[in-house]
Amino acid sequence: MTFSAALAFATLLFAANVDAVHVIFGNTQPVVRTRLDPIVDPGVVSEHVHDVFGGSGFSPTYDYNTAVNSQCTTTIIPQDKSNYWVPSGYYVDPNGTFSLMPVSMNIYYLVRPGSDNDTIVPFPAGLRMLAGDNERGTYNASSEADQAISYMCLDYNNDHTGDPDWAERPNFFDHQCPDGMRAQAFFPSCWDGQNLDSPDHKSHMAYPIGAYNTGLCPDTHPVHLLSLFYEYIMPTGNYPYNGAGTWSFSNGDQVGYRFHADFTNGWTDLNLLQQLIDNCPNAQGNTADCPALAAVQDANAAAACEFSSQIVDEDIGLDGPISVLPGCNLPWDGNGTMPACGNLPTPGFVNAIEPLPSGWNAIGCIAEGTSGRALTGASISGSNMTKAVCSATCADLGFTYAGAEYGDECYCGNSFENGASQNTIPSEKCNTRCAANTFETCGGPNALALMYNPNPSPITLSSLIAIPSPTSPSSPTSAPPAQSHVWFLDIRGL
Ligand SMILES: *[C@@H]1O[C@H](CO)[C@@H](O)[C@H](O)[C@H]1NC(C)=O
Ligand SMILES: *[C@@H]1O[C@H](CO)[C@@H](O)[C@H](O)[C@H]1NC(C)=O
Ligand SMILES: *[C@@H]1O[C@H](CO)[C@@H](O)[C@H](O)[C@H]1NC(C)=O
Ligand SMILES: *[C@@H]1O[C@H](CO)[C@@H](O)[C@H](O)[C@H]1NC(C)=O
Ligand SMILES: *[C@@H]1O[C@H](CO)[C@@H](O)[C@H](O)[C@H]1NC(C)=O
Repeated sequence: MTFSAALAFATLLFAANVDAVHVIFGNTQPVVRTRLDPIVDPGVVSEHVHDVFGGSGFSPTYDYNTAVNSQCTTTIIPQDKSNYWVPSGYYVDPNGTFSLMPVSMNIYYLVRPGSDNDTIVPFPAGLRMLAGDNERGTYNASSEADQAISYMCLDYNNDHTGDPDWAERPNFFDHQCPDGMRAQAFFPSCWDGQNLDSPDHKSHMAYPIGAYNTGLCPDTHPVHLLSLFYEYIMPTGNYPYNGAGTWSFSNGDQVGYRFHADFTNGWTDLNLLQQLIDNCPNAQGNTADCPALAAVQDANAAAACEFSSQIVDEDIGLDGPISVLPGCNLPWDGNGTMPACGNLPTPGFVNAIEPLPSGWNAIGCIAEGTSGRALTGASISGSNMTKAVCSATCADLGFTYAGAEYGDECYCGNSFENGASQNTIPSEKCNTRCAANTFETCGGPNALALMYNPNPSPITLSSLIAIPSPTSPSSPTSAPPAQSHVWFLDIRGL
């Protein structure tokens, strides 16, 4: 082959791979943020806090059956009860406190064959795997596993093409990222064909040889699965940049080498993934271009999905800055060994939310009316507010709709007034913690967490779950700018 022919060949292969069929579940919201990791630390409190996306069945001990029996999922495909998790991102104030950042995730499913154009198959039922390494203290440029963890610095108002200060890199940026810093993890796509997991949770999987996202599968791991890629977005631009150590993961990592990602396959209908592989030639990110997925996708169900089982009973920063990271996770700046601490008490588990009374269902987050309240039948506020209390209060008054707003307010009605409607808005607009339960959200500023019961009847709530409420309600943080139109266009780092 002549040099130019070889070059053209390489270009073609590269183009084919970049254009490979893929869909993105963009701007996916966490289903829960807590110190659990059923892959690495089953049954117990895990080492550090995780942001978990996808199925609501996530729990300390779970398997494929638990996952597929999730009530709901925060991805837009209701049949995708998988869980996707990473260490949580914190902003570190110069005064040493840690602020838990509001985050989102873009989840990519790529039909990405190797350079031999081999056959891609869906994830087997119950597959679990990891990318990245919580203990990694360096970057090895020739390791596919290290290459698979990377960062992008987002600035939608300026073009930094060709500027090395803004190029994708293996660790945190050393300057502000106005529209967010994106932590990226590309999972190994080659499977040994036999094991759904392995003792180190890694050796049943392998990266393609020579290129973590496009190479050939090794003989030991011959089955080429779909490729899975996470973009975890931290809204760094909402916090001042204070030099090295401005950002931290929940494991104490202030450099970025220790980012890692977990996945449990919980698709209830694996044929949907086969359809993506076989019958979505035009899918370049948008699920609407994959007929099988377009037919089932449900953004409203994703927005209404609420985690309802147990979490770890500790303050992870949902109500404001915390002085230490939960667990033994001392700050690590990339130099020397990672610091250790002595024995710490281990917290117990607690119900994440008070279950809604019988007959009531969560609809999701809706906007207040434009010229007055959305629900005008009755209004109540109090330090005992949860979504269950709001529902019970409206039920007692005979109303079908109940809306919890801004932490401690509750509105009731039978219809929507003043320009309001039942159309849901992004769930992150409803992120104010409930006055009586730190772990649960009760709407937001000018946004209601809506509940509905077509046949309300008076209810006695037997007990409120006993969770210490914060000393003072948190002040509302401004919601991050809507980026749903942008994530789709910005797909570097694959
Ligand atoms: C530390 O900074 C945070 C803001 O990041 C602020 O909310 C908190 O009150 C400060 N704490 C102290 C003790 O100064
Ligand atoms: C790869 O193989 C598929 C069928 O297995 C075929 O449709 C496609 O054209 C091939 N692509 C390339 C770039 O050879
Ligand atoms: C870096 O990675 C390569 C490829 O995996 C490996 O052969 C090599 O031993 C690694 N180097 C170090 C210093 O770990
Ligand atoms: C590591 O130590 C060196 C030398 O003390 C220092 O210049 C550098 O800033 C440190 N690295 C980080 C990430 O703090
Ligand atoms: C909530 O507290 C108010 C007083 O602030 C009380 O009237 C009401 O009964 C309480 N509701 C429930 C369901 O406990």
